[in-house]
Amino acid sequence: MRFPSRVHLIEVGPRDGLQNEPKTVSVETRVALIEKLADTGLAAIEAGSFVSPKWVPQMADSDRVLAALRPRPDVRYPVLVPNLKGFEAAKEAGAREVAIFGAASESFSRKNINCSIAESLERFAPVAEAANAADIRLRGYVSCALGCPYEGTIQPQAVAEVAARLLALGCYEISLGDTVGVGTPGQAQAMIRAVAERVPVEKLAAHFHDTYGQALANLYAVMELGVAAIDSSVAGLGGCPYAKGASGNVATEDVLYLLNGMGIETGVDLAKLLEAGRFIGTALGRSPASKVARAMESR
Ligand code: HMG
Ligand code: MG
Repeated sequence: MRFPSRVHLIEVGPRDGLQNEPKTVSVETRVALIEKLADTGLAAIEAGSFVSPKWVPQMADSDRVLAALRPRPDVRYPVLVPNLKGFEAAKEAGAREVAIFGAASESFSRKNINCSIAESLERFAPVAEAANAADIRLRGYVSCALGCPYEGTIQPQAVAEVAARLLALGCYEISLGDTVGVGTPGQAQAMIRAVAERVPVEKLAAHFHDTYGQALANLYAVMELGVAAIDSSVAGLGGCPYAKGASGNVATEDVLYLLNGMGIETGVDLAKLLEAGRFIGTALGRSPASKVARAMESR
């Protein structure tokens, strides 16, 4: 298989990144970050979560974030919804795309959304139905696709099963999460091969955290199999509040540098992306986790 000629980047920093920040980031800063990211040419920016604020306080007021964003016909702002309550709130706030999030590990499912995998799929069914009825796009996540912080190894078949169930619910794309960033390239390819037997590879996205520094190698490996949608996080922000020790998603700057070098189109401007990374780094009072950002800032 040849590498894709174009890759669709889904920016998840304002959600996956900021949900894990100890410092609460104001609605104004979240909005300003998303607007800067939209200026880079990114066509999809995850803007927040409609989850319990007791579970993830950092994502409170996601309705205010959505309301404040300047509508842009060419940019989508998906938000996470764990259940019908979250979906209704997201719809009320004007969301045009939502993401349901399941897991391939029973233990992680319980820690993250307080129910079994089977129960989560039962909860997602009415969300999918309501999204379809309201013409709201539906994306799906499978966490622990390359390992679980509680159970260790996860079988590729378990990932494929949940991915197939999300596809059957109507998800247009299934994002496969290496939640704790433990995978390596051969394992990532084996997982994609197993999932691609149940879900067309054109409908798969890679969502790799970079805890063990393997994310870029894993992305290269899965692009080789035709994966052409990548989730990443500006400045490498991120983690997961229910996966202790998980570091951020692979940095968008680093993914873009790799893709630019390979001649793969994205439509995203690296200089503007670096600017967005600087902005959130200043707001959080720390330097970016992106190696490309660090190298270019020090020139
Ligand atoms: P629960 O306690 O089982 O839910 O939590 P419940 O239905 O019993 O309700 C408990 C309380 O939560 C009630 O309020 C509900 O109203 C409220 P109370 O009566 O106590 O005041 N509630 C809600 N409030 C706001 N929005 C909602 C909502 N639903 C119930 N949608 C629940 C179940 C799913 C709500 C909870 O476990 C939760 O919010 N979990 C969030 C987990 C989360 O956001 N994790 C991070 C995102 S996933 C991730 O990062 C992985 C990913 O990046 C991929 C990867 O890397 O692998 C996507
Ligand atoms: Mg994640």
